[in-house]
Amino acid sequence: VSVKSPVIATERGLVRLALELGAEGLGGPLSQEERQLVDRARQEPATGLERSARVAIRAGGDPLGDDFAIIRTPLVRRAQGAFWTPPEIVAPMLDWALSANPACLVDPGCGSGRFSAAAARREPDLEIVAIDLDPLATLMTRAALSALGARHATVLNADYLTVELPDRNGVTAFVGNPPYVRHHDLSPQTKAWAVTAAKQLKIGVSGLAGLHALFFVATALKARKGDVGSLVTSSEWLDVHYGGVVRHLLTNGLGGRLLDLIDPRAIPFADAMTTALITCFEVGAGPGDMRLRLVETPAELSQVEGGQRVPTRRLVGVHRWSPLFRDATTEAPARSLGTIARVHRGFVTGANDFFLMTRTRARALGLEGWCKPAITTAAEILSADGELRDTPERRVVLDLPANLDRAANPAVDTYLREGEARGIDKSYIASHRKPWWRVGVGAPAPIVASYMARQAPKFALNPDGLALLNIGHGIYPRQTMSEEQLRLLAEALNRERSGYTGKGRTYHGGLEKFEPGEMEALRIPEVL
Ligand SMILES: C[S@@+](CC[C@H](N)C(=O)[O-])C[C@H]1O[C@@H](n2cnc3c(N)ncnc32)[C@H](O)[C@@H]1O
Repeated sequence: VSVKSPVIATERGLVRLALELGAEGLGGPLSQEERQLVDRARQEPATGLERSARVAIRAGGDPLGDDFAIIRTPLVRRAQGAFWTPPEIVAPMLDWALSANPACLVDPGCGSGRFSAAAARREPDLEIVAIDLDPLATLMTRAALSALGARHATVLNADYLTVELPDRNGVTAFVGNPPYVRHHDLSPQTKAWAVTAAKQLKIGVSGLAGLHALFFVATALKARKGDVGSLVTSSEWLDVHYGGVVRHLLTNGLGGRLLDLIDPRAIPFADAMTTALITCFEVGAGPGDMRLRLVETPAELSQVEGGQRVPTRRLVGVHRWSPLFRDATTEAPARSLGTIARVHRGFVTGANDFFLMTRTRARALGLEGWCKPAITTAAEILSADGELRDTPERRVVLDLPANLDRAANPAVDTYLREGEARGIDKSYIASHRKPWWRVGVGAPAPIVASYMARQAPKFALNPDGLALLNIGHGIYPRQTMSEEQLRLLAEALNRERSGYTGKGRTYHGGLEKFEPGEMEALRIPEVL
């Protein structure tokens, strides 16, 4: 990560520059919070950067937003869902929206105004309504639009969920990057708004829905038939339970037309580590197809064609959409891993610092005879070249039999007493086991797999029968396989793995998780 230094070093300096660019005179009256920022910034010395900033903005840059992203830490910005959209994503999204000839563009959660500014550069007469909760964001947007000479802009320092949009005629295009804020971080008022909105739309909204999902709900409430939209969000809603509301809206009234899933490996949002999904819709569009396209680089977004066309009616009631990007059929694959093997989770200790240890420590404690070498991190599987072996450095797990006679084994008894003194026996997992120290490592899996990573699962042979912690899944053939057959299976799984991306559940940050059932559903070659 390169650490860039900002041209302007403080938020007050940014407001000062925004003022010099004419922020105060553009977009309608300032909110009280904007006014406070402006009054304080007026006491700052002039920045001397007005001219160069204006030139940069006209040339397509975002000098204020760039500095803001350095000055305000990622931690604070995460709480607000404030991450800016790269121009190579803004441009194709606008192409889509402007092709509907809108009279007005609404930019929900405008941030530094990248969408509004890009629209104003292309169509200075377009009516623009930009909204953001953060007064510094709206001041930056005002400044950018002022530098561009936008003629019909309204900038509202307000909550998009509840804001009343100005009267509009003609088609409105909703274009933007709704904030990703998880449900735990939403205020009680926002949660209450979601309940009321759900009633109004007569739909179900899960209490676990994040703010980006609620922006879709708010858009459905504000938009009218004929309006269009292009919103970029995390792709999480495609598959998770709370995303049901977005999937429902797109198949009922909001008129989903095109979904562009940007391959997690392309990481278009450098500082947010997000999996981006662009959702384009035409409100009230009749039944038709939705095009689901997987894009490997942002550059592919400008292509007009490509992807799988799926009739919208086929998507109704389908709970996981991401597999459809690769495969237009929803039928189970012809031959899945599950037909020849079971997939089980690795074991859970409930207290790794007690049950896992180095061999040296196990030896020193007189426990080595009760320990088994173990695979304890996903990184081991991901970096293994198809095979994991035992080594002297490998950590071991204390795997005691249920019928252990503690009195006859003083070294073990001493260690377990120590654990009891530390309250390990009262910990959640241990207290639900009988006896509490029986981890139950289980039979070793001949093949192990990673199941949660920013890449497809990786598979490794386990010829030494290492125990597997729940950082991986074990693959157990239903019928005995020879070493050669196992090797061919592991090789085939690793060869096919690029096709497994998108078959699990993708989370914010590009993590993809495969439950055992999802791994069993993975397609394997007909002939091994
Ligand atoms: C992901 S950023 C996108 C910014 C900008 N549109 C871009 O794409 O570069 C989301 C923005 O939404 C704003 N925001 C968060 N909650 C909001 C709300 N309830 N109403 C309006 N804006 C909100 C944040 O302050 C942030 O600027």
